[in-house]
Amino acid sequence: MGEDNADELRELGEQLQDASTVLQVQEIRNAWLGRKGIITARLKGVALLPVEERRQAGQQWNSVRLAIETMIDDALARLQNQEEILQLEQERLDMTIPGIEPAVALLHPLTRVRRLVEDVFLRMGFTLSYGPEVESEWYNFEALNIPPNHPARDMQDSFFVDIPNLVLRTHTSPVQIRGMQAAAGQLPVKIIAPGRVYRRDDDPTHTPMFHQIEGLVVDHKISLADLQGTLLAMTKDLLGSDIRTRFRPSYFPFTEPSMEVDVTCAACNGTGCRVCKGTGWVEILGSGMVHPVVLRNGGYDPKQVTGFAFGLGIERLAMRIFELDDLRLLYQNDLEFLSRFSRYTGRPAL
Ligand code: PHE
Repeated sequence: MGEDNADELRELGEQLQDASTVLQVQEIRNAWLGRKGIITARLKGVALLPVEERRQAGQQWNSVRLAIETMIDDALARLQNQEEILQLEQERLDMTIPGIEPAVALLHPLTRVRRLVEDVFLRMGFTLSYGPEVESEWYNFEALNIPPNHPARDMQDSFFVDIPNLVLRTHTSPVQIRGMQAAAGQLPVKIIAPGRVYRRDDDPTHTPMFHQIEGLVVDHKISLADLQGTLLAMTKDLLGSDIRTRFRPSYFPFTEPSMEVDVTCAACNGTGCRVCKGTGWVEILGSGMVHPVVLRNGGYDPKQVTGFAFGLGIERLAMRIFELDDLRLLYQNDLEFLSRFSRYTGRPAL
């Protein structure tokens, strides 16, 4: 390779050094190796040489062309790599940017509240359990120590179906019995049972179909303190640590003693208003220590084990969380109304 060639290669090297994009290198390649490029012209020139020089000159220019191609390929590889890195850096995924909220297929506020409650109990080690909505009178009433003359059985309260001994379940409590039977004597029984329930009620705070979450814990030495501790943990988790909670003595045939749990009204913060009927409190659940008859019907010996149970009204809790004064709004399928709550993620500052 003569002096000329070395100079040319040096010049090419400098050009490539200065190039900062793949496009620039492609232009350089064109200028040297393209149809009207420098090397192409030289190779054409070879054909004009006298025959004895042609062979050698041809070989020489060919090897120059190979050298040039290698240099250009190297430069291309280097820049492609650099551009890739640059692109990757520019495209870096920022996981902290808020997502785009879908305009359709939002979860219904009641579904959101149900899932919030489920999460609280699943974190405490409960498992999910389900029962049928068309239930036998035995599971819905007898097994739960509800006598035949109890007002809950009355035509005013229950929806009976045409098939004898069947009823649309009036609460999720029959799953207490089903859950114990399924556990077949194993301990502990620690379940929650969400689902639809039906009663012949219809006013601003009652709909004929509504949702409950039943809870049941059965084990050795379960006490009222366990019940209170569990439910306090739940109200604080769902409504924030500032929430005030009140346990009120009550009566259910399937618990003894029985308690109802109230939380401060969200609409007035406890001062008394239309939503809480002036009391400052909203009832969210019924609870108590499982009645011995119920334990026995579930296959457990009340001399060996004790338990607590609760039934939480999802609509009531939703009213408290979303500050609603008419729960029928939840069932009118007004998308504008329903989507107002789509941003609620639960978990207030604790
Ligand atoms: N089943 C009762 C109701 O629907 C609530 C409840 C459940 C009470 C469990 C005590 C224990 O009102």
